[in-house]
Amino acid sequence: MSDIWLSTLKTTTPQEGYELAIKLSRMAVKLTQPSAEIRQKLREDYANNADSLTAVSSVVAIHFQTVAAANDHWKD
Ligand code: HEM
Repeated sequence: MSDIWLSTLKTTTPQEGYELAIKLSRMAVKLTQPSAEIRQKLREDYANNADSLTAVSSVVAIHFQTVAAANDHWKD
């Protein structure tokens, strides 16, 4: 993997930080399953499953903790 897709954990706002947490989560899925076709096939399942969506939320929350810490929780 040569493309740089994560150059910094610093974000201007908490909301941007949350979006970065989602990106980190999605990148893990993409790097683990490089086939867009297979991801597309599985999308239907997880998008309609409450437990899967709760798991998604949980993964994003874990990444958000890291991003928030890297930004000193956006304290002034
Ligand atoms: C779409 C997040 C796991 C496949 C999306 C979207 C979000 C998202 C926010 C909507 C994008 C949009 O409409 O603009 C996540 C997060 C995940 C996760 C945070 C894990 C923690 C997965 C998994 C798969 C998957 C496990 C399949 C293996 C897809 C596909 C789409 C999608 C195919 C629609 C196409 C696209 O927008 O790229 N996901 N997802 N995702 N997700 Fe996930």
